[in-house]
Amino acid sequence: MSAPWRAEARSRPLSGVGLILPNPEPRTPDRESVSGRALELRLHTATPEETEALGRRLGGLLRAGDVIALSGDLGAGKTVLARGIAAGAGAAGHVASPTFTFLREYHGPVTIYHADLYRLDRPQQLEDLGLDEILDGNGIVVLEWAEKARPLLPPEHLWITIRFMNGEDTRELAFSPKGARYVEIIEKLTKA
Ligand SMILES: Nc1ncnc2c1ncn2[C@@H]1O[C@H](COP(=O)(O)OP(=O)(O)OP(=O)(O)O)[C@@H](O)[C@H]1O
Ligand SMILES: [Mg+2]
Repeated sequence: MSAPWRAEARSRPLSGVGLILPNPEPRTPDRESVSGRALELRLHTATPEETEALGRRLGGLLRAGDVIALSGDLGAGKTVLARGIAAGAGAAGHVASPTFTFLREYHGPVTIYHADLYRLDRPQQLEDLGLDEILDGNGIVVLEWAEKARPLLPPEHLWITIRFMNGEDTRELAFSPKGARYVEIIEKLTKA
């Protein structure tokens, strides 16, 4: 028998699943926080298709210069989400996992840079990749294993952590907006 929260994730629209919750870890007050606690939006998906659809909705809210940092264990669903983001942002064609190439570009109305930093083991490789230029540039940047690029991330970005939940296909996506621009994006994401 399915756990009640799984049934809920299946039967309700994605926009109804999440809540903006205060992050349990207190941090310095800033524009996106309430009472010094960072906002976090948590959504649950029950299938890869739901994660991709959520990515597509997010991608539709993005514009050049936006940075999306993805974190989560192997197989969590970062590439599935990135594929949706790219499609939603207007990329033509299929976004494959860039694991062996570190970086791929997709051209549409806006260029989308999709990097997978998993195999990156030396900071020099971040430079070789030209990540700082890409992050400064005028495309949308989606990074898998973004923790490996933390020193290069602009102060404003959207951090998304994907976690496995009880139930093989259920995932929790925790959206942590850094900066007013990304608070606005996740607010829109909660609306249908
Ligand atoms: N709710 C879900 N959301 C996303 N993927 C799911 C979900 N349920 C099952 N899956 C499966 O989990 C896998 C996620 O793979 P994906 O390549 O996106 O992971 P990843 O986080 O990018 O891993 P890696 O760190 O190896 O790049 C896929 O096989 C997908 O079908
Ligand atoms: Mg991946």
